[in-house]
Amino acid sequence: MAVRLGSLLPLIQLVLIASSDGSPLKKCAGKGCRPPVVLVPGDLGNQLEAKLDKPSVVHYICYKKTDDFFTLWLNLELLVPVAIDCWIDNMRTGLSGDWTKSEVIAADFSPNTPTLSIALIYNRTTRSTEAPPGVDVRVPGFGQTYPLEYLDPSGRSVGMYFFTIVQALTEAGYTRDHDIRGAPYDWRKAPNENKPYFLALQQMIEEMAEEFGGPVVVVAHSMGNMYALYFLNQQSQAWKDRYVKAFVCLGPPWAGVAKTLRVLASGDNNRIPVISSLKIRSQQRTAVSTTWLLPYASAWPARKVLVSTPAANYTLSDYRRFFADVGFPDGWLMRQDTEALVGGLEPPGVPVHCLYGTGVATPEAFRYGAGFPDAEPAVEYGDGDGTVNLLSARACRGWAGRQPQPVSLLELPGNEHVAMLLNLTTVEYIKKVLAAP
Ligand SMILES: *[C@@H]1O[C@H](CO)[C@@H](O)[C@H](O)[C@H]1NC(C)=O
Ligand SMILES: *[C@@H]1O[C@H](CO)[C@@H](O)[C@H](O)[C@H]1NC(C)=O
Ligand SMILES: *[C@@H]1O[C@H](CO)[C@@H](O)[C@H](O)[C@H]1NC(C)=O
Repeated sequence: MAVRLGSLLPLIQLVLIASSDGSPLKKCAGKGCRPPVVLVPGDLGNQLEAKLDKPSVVHYICYKKTDDFFTLWLNLELLVPVAIDCWIDNMRTGLSGDWTKSEVIAADFSPNTPTLSIALIYNRTTRSTEAPPGVDVRVPGFGQTYPLEYLDPSGRSVGMYFFTIVQALTEAGYTRDHDIRGAPYDWRKAPNENKPYFLALQQMIEEMAEEFGGPVVVVAHSMGNMYALYFLNQQSQAWKDRYVKAFVCLGPPWAGVAKTLRVLASGDNNRIPVISSLKIRSQQRTAVSTTWLLPYASAWPARKVLVSTPAANYTLSDYRRFFADVGFPDGWLMRQDTEALVGGLEPPGVPVHCLYGTGVATPEAFRYGAGFPDAEPAVEYGDGDGTVNLLSARACRGWAGRQPQPVSLLELPGNEHVAMLLNLTTVEYIKKVLAAP
């Protein structure tokens, strides 16, 4: 008798675990029934606001103190002469220049390359970042779509981001901020410094699933995919089975992107000719997410030379020396703080759809001359979407045998990293995933 009871025990525990997740979701069925959608943007992919109470400013016209929060990213009004010096100071860059508004608007503001971000100060003792004195930066509109539909709140096409996808879904019956919501975050940081974000995301997904009677479809772009993967890796399988229907990955940099090496070494003006790469370098280095996005051993060949100089060849295993040689030793600490977050590419444990652009020249190695790291490199290109290298985007293929849930891949020939969000093929694919039983 005792033996039989004992053998039943694991079963009882199983039942208890399953029911501890609450009563079944009220089933949504029939026409008009749509899985709720959560959008997770990429690096530079949502608005940021700032409030100032600074000890000093660079120009008497600049605000030293503001009563309220104002849009810092992306605010084209701030990118005019004089104003730009103020903006730069708030961004804590050493940038100077004579931009005109039309140059800025004509410039290609690709929202997903680590370019202009608001500087942070890294503390080697706490191994975390802090805001500079008197600058308070916040992420507006969690749960709403506006901070990621347009990066510039004035809604100019230069900052258009998730708008096309959101608009198409509203035309298919969705309602903004209701059954389609945004999950913006502080993209200057890696997940280790964004803990409250993941709690808020979990809570929002649970609320949406309960309210709309079915699990949520998560649609992420670029670095947002690594954020979403980290989030899913933290959840129990029971939670994922209950709350997540599918994970749509757009332009995912699963194994990092080579472009970050250039950003860290010599700066990257992201093809905006009026900004000097070197001048924005020190500011770009302070975003921990940039070191988090360095290439990973999960997909890159161990012997691939990513950066070469007359004095050295740097591969994946030479990051420590690379950081020392470019004069940014804190970068090595930042990398160590963040490498394990998703470096092992643990399967997400939900149905995956990986969509990625190909056929666009994508930097994969940099050759520097004697001026390293204060000179522009010669760039070697490979396949990808212009930002994410193909071998990195396609790394989700490795999950196919490692999780029971299906893993689908779709190549989008000729699609650039951000342009893929505006492409009809992408929009139709997302609609198909949402309509699937
Ligand atoms: C780093 O953090 C420690 C502990 O909070 C603090 O004592 C120290 O002053 C900080 N360092 C800098 C440079 O701000
Ligand atoms: C870097 O690698 C190239 C190609 O293998 C080699 O010719 C060159 O000597 C190496 N440079 C250094 C500094 O080791
Ligand atoms: C959209 O993507 C498809 C598939 O990659 C491609 O064939 C097509 O040319 C793209 N359309 C535009 C307008 O870029």
